[in-house]
Amino acid sequence: MFNTFRAPLTCGLLVFAPLAWAQSSPQPSRRDVADVYASLCANCHGPKLEGALGPSLVDDTWKSGADDESIARSIREGQLPAGMPAFSAALSPQDIRALVIYIREQGAERRSKGTAFAKPAADKAVRSELHAFKLETVTEGLDTPWSVAFLPDGRMLVTEKEGRLRVVEKGRLLPEPIRGTPAVWSKGQGGLLDVAVHPDYAKNGWIYLSYSDPGANGSAMTAIVRGKLREGRFVEQQTLFRAPPGLYRNAGVHFGSRFVFDGKGHLFFSIGERGHKEDAQDLSRPNGKVHRIHEDGSIPKDNPFVGRKGALPSIWSYGNRNPQGLAQHPVTGELWETEHGPRGGDELNRIEPGRNYGWPVITYGMNYDGTPMTDRTAQEGMEQPVLHWTPSIAVCAADFYTGSHFPQWKNDLFVGALAQQEVRRLRIEGGKVVHQEVLFKDVGRVRDVVSSPDGYLYVAFNGPDRIARLVPAPVVEPASGKAPSAKP
Ligand code: HEC
Repeated sequence: MFNTFRAPLTCGLLVFAPLAWAQSSPQPSRRDVADVYASLCANCHGPKLEGALGPSLVDDTWKSGADDESIARSIREGQLPAGMPAFSAALSPQDIRALVIYIREQGAERRSKGTAFAKPAADKAVRSELHAFKLETVTEGLDTPWSVAFLPDGRMLVTEKEGRLRVVEKGRLLPEPIRGTPAVWSKGQGGLLDVAVHPDYAKNGWIYLSYSDPGANGSAMTAIVRGKLREGRFVEQQTLFRAPPGLYRNAGVHFGSRFVFDGKGHLFFSIGERGHKEDAQDLSRPNGKVHRIHEDGSIPKDNPFVGRKGALPSIWSYGNRNPQGLAQHPVTGELWETEHGPRGGDELNRIEPGRNYGWPVITYGMNYDGTPMTDRTAQEGMEQPVLHWTPSIAVCAADFYTGSHFPQWKNDLFVGALAQQEVRRLRIEGGKVVHQEVLFKDVGRVRDVVSSPDGYLYVAFNGPDRIARLVPAPVVEPASGKAPSAKP
């Protein structure tokens, strides 16, 4: 590139040294992207990105293209005649990618300030695009509920992260937790995690639990057991998945984990990469993967890595960062997964056997401290997400709605978000997300979302801790609380 551009004098502070010839890209900086923006861009685009000499970068209008690549190109190549310098000599591709994420974050924050999201108060009807609903509290008095499941008799099972399995009977939380559940490593994000009831529970009585299993020297790894409930105890426990002790990890983050029964005798479960990014690409390790086993823990012979030397035979897909939502599409039977990304790059994936979902080689996110991670968002042999959320919403749980109380929501995917404290409805057609709606926001961190056998949508909240459900509200108060749509 022959670059003889100098910053216009109107810009005052910035002078760009002319470069004779193209150089190899600069190294990624170790600076917070907000500092990079402040030192290189704020003069012209304003400290809040709202525009000065250069245009606003948060008004959602783009002269040179609205997609990520066009924005990156604007930064890389500039628009010299119009006064936008090229930054390819000053900034690495990774830094430019981090700036794109930063611009997206700031834009989303600006937009959300300008919109009133529904924040359902007790017994207040909320009107959404397709249905009016109320958020009705089912039970309080829980400590950090993580997952919710239903027994055929209507009782509800709730895991509390600290390690207790609780029972809610006719809306009443039984004071005593179930005794005899496995000891859990309850630190950081670890603890008692998912609970699921076998589809043939009425016949076999199996309850499945996932939890962070304590190992040597303060390490832990997600493990899976099943057992039966008898007189307030968890009995006949069988271990279905436990990694060899040498593979346990010390970090307190990214355990996953969710269950899906596919109705054909298989159980899917997910394990996060445990804070060791590279493990997600390593088939000899259980973390950063979605697994498939038979309901009794044995390995299906047709799993994709059975017989591959050094690979764990339970692995179904890999390159998954922290899959905290797993759900089976009620019509197509496909497995859908939500994955908690870094800063930016939360993902919705359709999981297929043997595929590599790319973490950490490709990602739409950057490091939490604002330093760049990679500019690579796609690569041959690695799957693209169906959708990514940048900025992150801290996507957690996901379930398809299969109930009858909200007929127009049938087969829509509902996802919960911790940081953004919201539940979103995603309309999926032909394997793509064609519409997103934020149903409500800011009534607590959403830990679990479950389509219940009695046809409602249950939500587990952390802070304040409670289980609530969405119930139809026949009377709609006019024009209040209409939830706006989110851009996909
Ligand atoms: C010397 C002033 C100046 C500086 C410094 C500057 N910009 Fe610009 N920028 C402009 C101007 C002027 C435009 C409008 C160009 C046009 O009209 O095509 C622009 C356009 C853009 C666009 C395209 C906007 C659109 O509507 O498509 C992006 C993105 C952008 N700048 C990002 C940045 C970033 C990020 C930095 C810092 C790394 C930066 N700019 C630094 C002046 C500047």
